[in-house]
Amino acid sequence: PKVAPFTELMPIPPVLQPSSSANGVDTYRIDIRDATAQLIPGFTTPVLTYAGSFVGPTIRTRTGRRVKVVYTNRLAAPANVHLHGGHVAAVNDGHPMDLIQPGQARTYEYPNAQQGATLWYHDHSHHTEAEHVYRGLHGFYLIDDPSEKRFALPSGQYDVPIMLRDAAFDQNGGLIFFGDPAERTNFLVNGKLQPYFPVAARKYRFRILNAANERVFRLNLGGHQITQIASDGGLLPEPVRMTEIVLSSAERAEIVVDFSRLPIGSQLVLHNGTIPVMRFDVVRNASDYSLVPHTLRPLPALPPASVTRDITMSFDLSGPGPLPVGLVNGRPYDPNRVDAQIRSGATEIWNVSNVDTLPGVIHNFHLHMTHFRVLERDGGPPLPEDEGLKDTVFLPFGGRVKIQATFGGGFTGRYVYHCHFLEHSSLGMMAEMEIIP
Ligand code: C2O
Ligand code: CU
Repeated sequence: PKVAPFTELMPIPPVLQPSSSANGVDTYRIDIRDATAQLIPGFTTPVLTYAGSFVGPTIRTRTGRRVKVVYTNRLAAPANVHLHGGHVAAVNDGHPMDLIQPGQARTYEYPNAQQGATLWYHDHSHHTEAEHVYRGLHGFYLIDDPSEKRFALPSGQYDVPIMLRDAAFDQNGGLIFFGDPAERTNFLVNGKLQPYFPVAARKYRFRILNAANERVFRLNLGGHQITQIASDGGLLPEPVRMTEIVLSSAERAEIVVDFSRLPIGSQLVLHNGTIPVMRFDVVRNASDYSLVPHTLRPLPALPPASVTRDITMSFDLSGPGPLPVGLVNGRPYDPNRVDAQIRSGATEIWNVSNVDTLPGVIHNFHLHMTHFRVLERDGGPPLPEDEGLKDTVFLPFGGRVKIQATFGGGFTGRYVYHCHFLEHSSLGMMAEMEIIP
């Protein structure tokens, strides 16, 4: 269907209330189930949902507050849930082989012993994660940090999560999953096609997530200044002013946009390159006591690394099958093999590279369980999009990054690292690490 852009209001995903709170633990309940959603005007689309909502309900908690989420799988297929960017025990990580069978419930526990950050939760069931996430199993999980209140960043109704993704639709408004991800040319923002969002003439904090299975967004406001304040794992040491943000699948950027100098009635279009994604309409005045301070939160010091590893990401196109096989260090994912054994608490340097030879093939790299810092890109300094505490980093064709991570928190057990272009990880571009005491 062809639909004029900016006809629908951008919704804000509902914030879920705990079903109970006791002894400092909030318990939430979410059904994983089929539903329909109005993604494009005039069409009803069958989708998969958390709690009936195409962008799942937002879980909003705070640093140090423990959370349990009871998920009941009401789908006909196995599912599971990964808290992307969460520092959690292996048993609560939504390991790709650790599934919730149809009709079963499963409780995941999250300590939230990490600084404030924009996380998200999504399906991670091996071989079906790409389709499940594409059909709607994605939602925000926001950790507020009481120690960050003093910065007086925009808050409340001026702190808005924005989930960007792509989709392809058939004539009836159904989601087309199979086929070339490059043909997913419709942009959904919080689950609506190219919506508009009314704003006041003041500063806003937007938490932008690229939830597309396989896409790099290059976002701009037509030259209007964007101030990035946080990346995947929380605040940057200081705000960074830019006019374009680059986000590969699963990456987040928190930005402050100041609409205060725009007259009432003016509009600012968020573009991906030259293609409109959504429109901000300045509709009213509002007081603004929020600030963007000169310095935010220093990054934790980097302890010396004791181990260096080389990680390569590529496709094997030589096999007999119709689809390529995804490889990490030359091998497809095997849950029965440990690819990296890591001492709990160790700090390591990983040189991660995209070694595909077919020109134009791009990947990214996501590490579970911890955050990392990008020390170098292509042998030089990191790019602006590499700054801060990262859990996912872009690997363009021929790209390589040197990252450093501490595997702390006292967690042991099996976790994965993989390309977050979910069609690639479904095809095997994933590996297993074991954290040992
Ligand atoms: Cu966002 Cu292993 O995933
Ligand atoms: Cu990839």
